[in-house]
Amino acid sequence: MTGTSERIGAHIDPAGRMELIEIGERAGTGACVDFRRIELAGISSQPLVKACGPKGLLVDATAGFGGDAWILAAAGFDVTCIERSLVVAAVLDDGISRAKTDPALAAVAKRIELKVGEAAHLLAKVLPEDARRHATLYLDPMYPPKEGSALAPKPIRLIRLAVGDGPDAAELVAAGRAAHYRRIVVKRPHHAPHLDGTPHHEIEGKLARFDVYISHTTNGRTGPSE
Ligand SMILES: C[S@@+](CC[C@H](N)C(=O)[O-])C[C@H]1O[C@@H](n2cnc3c(N)ncnc32)[C@H](O)[C@@H]1O
Repeated sequence: MTGTSERIGAHIDPAGRMELIEIGERAGTGACVDFRRIELAGISSQPLVKACGPKGLLVDATAGFGGDAWILAAAGFDVTCIERSLVVAAVLDDGISRAKTDPALAAVAKRIELKVGEAAHLLAKVLPEDARRHATLYLDPMYPPKEGSALAPKPIRLIRLAVGDGPDAAELVAAGRAAHYRRIVVKRPHHAPHLDGTPHHEIEGKLARFDVYISHTTNGRTGPSE
């Protein structure tokens, strides 16, 4: 588990929400989790949702601020989030708790559960093995910013300050395979190499690519139409 970096902390903003903020900055200038801002129109045709396959149990092992988890829960998945940064997890937990008390968000929020810790250790514990054999594992690891690319949005810049880059991302794919997840979906920038060899198929989104790895163990049938 990673703790708070020296430059980043969390505190309550003037609106009563926990925010991730650079130490020394004024309250209210950080980033909080606000699921009301997430656009859900046409979600079932979003590349993220298509890549994650048939609705069911899904583990988002790199939860961050939970934006992808929210879209997947709204699309009908039951999502277990894992986040190893204590400070990022605290901000996410605050966002989920507030959503559970908001009548417009509560139904989706109830489909999300948060576990705090190192995903490589938790993947085989958060679901029983028979459930993992049908479940999707979703990974959106940090990646180094591309030189000359536009400035990342504030939440991502602050998360990067809190957790650094994700040099161990490939280990999560290996841990997911070892834990027998049916489908492993890895979000990658368009310019990045595959994390774990050639995927079964790829789905291109506007801002990212989704590499889909499918295990052959449950019923012997695999295919992009899944
Ligand atoms: C790019 S952010 C994820 C953003 C997220 N998909 C969203 O929509 O907000 C990556 C997050 O994964 C977390 N992370 C990376 N490796 C992890 C691991 N092995 N176990 C648990 N969390 C991890 C980082 O701390 C960071 O918060």
